[in-house]
Amino acid sequence: MNILVTGGAGYIGSHTVIELINNGHDVIIIDNLSNSCKEAVTRAERIIGEALTFYEKDIRDKQALEKVFSKHQIDGVIHFAGLKAVGESVKMPLKYYNNNLISTISLLEVMESHNVKQLVFSSSATVYGDPASVPIKESATLPAKVTNPYGQTKLVIETMLMDLAITNNNWQITALRYFNPIGAHESGTIGEDPSDIPNNLMPYVSQVAIGKLKELSVFGSDYPTRDGTGVRDYIHVTDLAKAHVAALSTPASLNEYRAINVGTGKGTSVLELISAFEQASGVKVPYKITGRRRPGDIAACYADPSLAHSILGWRAQKTIEDACADSWRWQSANPNGYRG
Ligand code: NAD
Ligand code: UFG
Repeated sequence: MNILVTGGAGYIGSHTVIELINNGHDVIIIDNLSNSCKEAVTRAERIIGEALTFYEKDIRDKQALEKVFSKHQIDGVIHFAGLKAVGESVKMPLKYYNNNLISTISLLEVMESHNVKQLVFSSSATVYGDPASVPIKESATLPAKVTNPYGQTKLVIETMLMDLAITNNNWQITALRYFNPIGAHESGTIGEDPSDIPNNLMPYVSQVAIGKLKELSVFGSDYPTRDGTGVRDYIHVTDLAKAHVAALSTPASLNEYRAINVGTGKGTSVLELISAFEQASGVKVPYKITGRRRPGDIAACYADPSLAHSILGWRAQKTIEDACADSWRWQSANPNGYRG
């Protein structure tokens, strides 16, 4: 299939492009490079041993999208493009609503006018808000509002996609709800490359390990979890990438909207992640436990991933140890990410 990948130069997109090519698909990437570098595409080309079709365009620009859809016979779209920094979204909500919503609407309109109806959308476990219980099933009631504008854009987009599916206009829509993606390609040549001080745990840990940051602050130690620190479902980015390939090869039915968790089903605490990273890298990660919780954080969030297995035949294969080893291979070979 010819797959259009929006945001394909980004962290998850670049790993997914490789899995798509490995599974015989052709890929067209559109990315405005607002949170990524062209170098990620160049390195993905090196891994797969072939050139990729890449457009540096903003997908809010409908004319630019029209040109791409007119030039290529597109069979399906994986829509990664979006802004994702939770803290920034609280400070600059309009930037997030503008980018994430307008880009999605413009993409859907152009898809509709070119009769391309198969979509896989990057959603997030953030749509569950503070879950009533874990592991979280897709049938959990979604809150009307989540705690930050970034998460709210995911909730609004999912609602919009549900509305689209019931138009009976032959849309086939899969929203993959990612838990916490970590790790890097096993080659160590592509990985997560935050442009600023990382907000997320794994890139922070690896930048402390490489000596770019002094120490990690563990946010909160009094959660009702086994060691008092936050518990998350960390999913290797290559496993996550493969879930997209599975979603395309077992597509939603005509007029179907389906939301599927992509996680391992296993919760790992902050302290357990630090320890797994230290073992995988052989490097000590200095940290201090702050009594202060990060606003908006929840105690525990992990998936019931059984739907992904029953519908897509997909299951996470890699362990936390694999992810830590791969993150460290990427970080130590590229201390400054793609910037040399
Ligand atoms: P990323 O920032 O590395 O990738 C997103 C890409 O989209 C970037 O390359 C960016 O330049 C591009 N982009 C943003 N706005 C664009 C626009 N208007 N036009 C064209 N390109 C645009 O992020 P990621 O971690 O790879 O995340 C991919 C998707 O998965 C995002 O939608 C994100 O919200 C979602 N997601 C990520 C996580 C996570 O923890 N990484 C968790 C859940 C969901
Ligand atoms: N944490 C620390 N110190 C840090 C960073 C994080 O202790 O410097 C802790 C957090 O308090 C939390 C855990 O590590 O307990 C994981 O935090 P992350 O920021 O890595 O991940 P979150 O689960 O908070 O959020 C991430 C993405 C969201 C997404 C959500 C669910 O940032 O965009 O996963 O997919 F919505």
